[in-house]
Amino acid sequence: MKFDPVEPGIYPELIYPAYKSTVKRGPQQPALRIEAPVPTSRNIVAGPHILLPHDTDLTAHGASEPLGEKIVVTGRVVDEDGKPVRNSLVEVWQANSAGRYWHSRDQHAAPLDPNFHGLGKMLTDDDGRYRFVTIKPGPYPWGNHDKAWRPAHIHFSLFGNVYAQRLVTQMYFPSDPLFDYDPIFQSVPDEAARQRLISRFSMEQTVGGEMLGYEFDIVLRGRNATPMGL
Ligand SMILES: [Fe+2]
Repeated sequence: MKFDPVEPGIYPELIYPAYKSTVKRGPQQPALRIEAPVPTSRNIVAGPHILLPHDTDLTAHGASEPLGEKIVVTGRVVDEDGKPVRNSLVEVWQANSAGRYWHSRDQHAAPLDPNFHGLGKMLTDDDGRYRFVTIKPGPYPWGNHDKAWRPAHIHFSLFGNVYAQRLVTQMYFPSDPLFDYDPIFQSVPDEAARQRLISRFSMEQTVGGEMLGYEFDIVLRGRNATPMGL
């Protein structure tokens, strides 16, 4: 049986030639709908016990403050009707302010920051809201094409209430000049859907003297769904 996307154009193309590696790894056959295994019918119990004290403050993982622009990111995880998705495990990972990941496979010529590892996690509250403090990530080069640089972004993973409900996406920052040149961002066909990947600056969330605020809501389904699979 062919799998029909909820709304065409919102999810990225699985094979998008401008994004070179998708040509080799993208599926050549249509997706199959499978019977859900038994564990998907059991609720995930991701209780507060899995959270470490500084999981929502990525600037607090070292001996002192990391370098870069301190920011706070918050938003709501909602379903297609705008109802909150409560108690959802949200994990984030990102590069440091110089655009380098704390990962052995990232060896590009930018410095690591001993005070910034770029990993966080949290649970949404009763209003579906998450919030974390971090450093604005830098853009970084990659091997897709000559002069290929990723726009600054934060990776998100969301678990729903069962293990089969895992979604990943990327959050971007407003007015990034690299959007037009980034095949990952451009692999989402629908222009309005691409815009939903971009956080918005929020004076309301900004903390005076400390950090700028950004809001990024995540809609899981429907016409206004946030693109996933990036
Ligand atoms: Fe990345």
